[in-house]
Amino acid sequence: MPKRKEPYVALANIRPNAVVDYDIFPFSIPAVREIGSIHFHPNVTFFVGENGAGKSTVLEGIALALGFGAEGGTKNVHFRSAGSTSSLHENLRISRRVPAPSDEYFLRAESFFNVASHVDATGYLKGYGGKSLHTQSHGESFMAVLLNKFRGNGLYLLDEPEAALSPGRQLAALNAIHKLVENHSQFIIATHSPILMSYPNAKIIQFDESGINEVNFEDTEHFLITKDFLNNYPRRLSQLLQDD
Ligand SMILES: Nc1ncnc2c1ncn2[C@@H]1O[C@H](COP(=O)(O)OP(=O)(O)O)[C@@H](O)[C@H]1O
Ligand SMILES: [Mg+2]
Repeated sequence: MPKRKEPYVALANIRPNAVVDYDIFPFSIPAVREIGSIHFHPNVTFFVGENGAGKSTVLEGIALALGFGAEGGTKNVHFRSAGSTSSLHENLRISRRVPAPSDEYFLRAESFFNVASHVDATGYLKGYGGKSLHTQSHGESFMAVLLNKFRGNGLYLLDEPEAALSPGRQLAALNAIHKLVENHSQFIIATHSPILMSYPNAKIIQFDESGINEVNFEDTEHFLITKDFLNNYPRRLSQLLQDD
């Protein structure tokens, strides 16, 4: 079993003096209002829920409040982003535990390409296995980051890492995550992957219109729908694809 008992990031509370308008993004998102009730697991915390439920907004808010750049990468990576960020991070107070992590990384699948360009441009490839991230496939370059860049004693925030990965690579990623957890690491991962969220040393936080709730793996929509579909796909397909 993993040895870490204390999380690096325990809580993310909205500052008591924050000016909060619940009618306006990001506070209009139910999960954002309840962000303070998330008690982060010392090993892995998953954010799950429908598209648009606020997973990326919350993860980005936490990352920016911790000092990461909006595009992701290590804390040394800060460059202008084409996308907009919310003001959430300015209103968050992160409760951290000691010791601090010695390794930190924020990975967003959607801007990983830009971070890879930055890594190439700055010639800082050693930590990535020495090979340009652009000459590898998206999945290969993500695995290079997971296997070569993450060193343990780390805090890792990942937004939909499975976007790049085949099912086999997702299993390999699970193994790499477990090794890093055993080496005193904490992960916060927004994901739709039932393979990743099956990880046992973890807590699953479901985001929806009512806010946030902890759920068991086998009660997630991801598990139930995927299992039902694969077990019954000929019937489910004929139901889905029937002519009206
Ligand atoms: N900068 C923004 N301004 C206004 N609304 C936004 C902004 N960014 C995201 N949203 C909206 O906030 C909601 C949550 O988005 P997001 O956090 O990306 O969801 P998820 O990652 O769970 O799919 C979506 O409805 C999205 O359209
Ligand atoms: Mg998202």
